[in-house]
Amino acid sequence: MSINRRQLLTAGAGLMAFPLSGLSGALTTDSTDSYYHQFHRALQQRPWLSAYQSVKQHSYSSQARISGVWPADLRGTLYRNGPAQHEIGSFRYQHWFDGDGMLQAFRISDGGVTHQAKMIATEKYIAESAAQRALYPTFGTVPPNPAAVISPDAVNVGNISVLPHHGKLLALWEAGSAWEMDADSLDTKGTYAFSDNMRGVPFSAHPRIESDGTLWNFGYLSSAGLLVLWNIDATGKLVKAGKVKVDPMTMPHDFVVTEKHIILLLPPFHYETRAQGAFIDRHQWNADQATRVVVISKQDFSVQKWLDLPAQWVFHFSNAWEDRSGTIRFQGVRYTSPNIMSKDFRDIMRGDWVNAADNAGQLYEYTINTKNWTVSETALWSANVAAEFPTIDPRVSCQQHRRIVMLTGDTMKRSPHSYSGLNEVSVANLESGERQFYRYADSQIPEEHLFVAKSGSRAETDGWLLGTVHDWVKQATLLNVFDINSVDAGPIAQAALPYALPLGLHGKFVEG
Ligand SMILES: [Fe+2]
Repeated sequence: MSINRRQLLTAGAGLMAFPLSGLSGALTTDSTDSYYHQFHRALQQRPWLSAYQSVKQHSYSSQARISGVWPADLRGTLYRNGPAQHEIGSFRYQHWFDGDGMLQAFRISDGGVTHQAKMIATEKYIAESAAQRALYPTFGTVPPNPAAVISPDAVNVGNISVLPHHGKLLALWEAGSAWEMDADSLDTKGTYAFSDNMRGVPFSAHPRIESDGTLWNFGYLSSAGLLVLWNIDATGKLVKAGKVKVDPMTMPHDFVVTEKHIILLLPPFHYETRAQGAFIDRHQWNADQATRVVVISKQDFSVQKWLDLPAQWVFHFSNAWEDRSGTIRFQGVRYTSPNIMSKDFRDIMRGDWVNAADNAGQLYEYTINTKNWTVSETALWSANVAAEFPTIDPRVSCQQHRRIVMLTGDTMKRSPHSYSGLNEVSVANLESGERQFYRYADSQIPEEHLFVAKSGSRAETDGWLLGTVHDWVKQATLLNVFDINSVDAGPIAQAALPYALPLGLHGKFVEG
């Protein structure tokens, strides 16, 4: 089933994952300035909350201070994205995912490591910077006297991830267009369209790229009850697009792709067409209903199998692959509910202490038998090992992977009122079942870590681990390098920035 933009419109679909009506005068239950004052009071008591402070500048630039011995053959650029401007004046957003995006580049060369960061100049960011106030509703906040939203990209903050592909650098959101960025200056060029007839159609933040550069992605249109599927070749040309009707609609964040199939989990966090308030508040968690699993043929999007799992929420998957017998395997970080998103990521914006153990994610393996079309799930580790941000060696994307890099934390060792989130980086060996990890100092809050392959090597055992931490004592963001085979020995080198940036979301490494 292929689609174009005209068909979406004529189907009454519209293009809005974000609803465009019913916001006038609507406010969330807390007064809008209380988040600002509560957070800044809490910051005095809990200095690690600096990880959720708003950035103080539009852009940053520095030469990092290196310690340890940086590997001579680790050269390239780590791009990262994430919500960064959480406040405008004395107005503070009420959800971690609301903040306007900031793109960062850590450039690693023989001359050392330089850092550059710049706010993504979205239409919303430009308009609100000029107005000096929050104008538009966001994922989790409706500001006072919100302006009318005339298109999804009018509220597209581009703050989730980054995609280097076919010579372009794109900043990704979930419910709107990609933003084309200048890879050298980090300036924003504007929204990017893979083809004219798909302009403005949502392109979400976790595309899957095969080893030949073939790209698969999805987008969702909540009010239309549609998933959109994208297939793009290595040159950036749209090969085909499709749509899948989903009723009731939900909010998928990630998906997986194998040699033959596209797989999405659709949790029972249902979009309520007539609900009011911020986008997330228009969703209802129905714990008594299934998480639907849809398995779609890459060849023919109309060939679909629908399966059921118990109610669960998954932000992120590792990677999927399909063996010769037709068995699909992938791992995901499974939550029993979306409370981490609907509650914890609000509470943290007020500076409340959040006990991560209450809503911890756990690494599960999912198996789909494509002969008899059954799905099963099993926990890989004990319930007290919390996990998030699973990543793999990108060279084995959509094929068999044997290692997963991820952040972890022991939920049994939380001390009340100290930082309670993930504090380790782990490498899981899926063949042996072993997990090797490094626990960061109490002053350091890790962000997503990536597997970086050694040039010329083909093995998943030959590479580095590259990842940042927010050090709230030093007030510095630190880039760490580990040997992938001895993560537990700690970083072999570190590049320290002379400032600390708020916690971001996802990144990508480009060799060279
Ligand atoms: Fe994500």
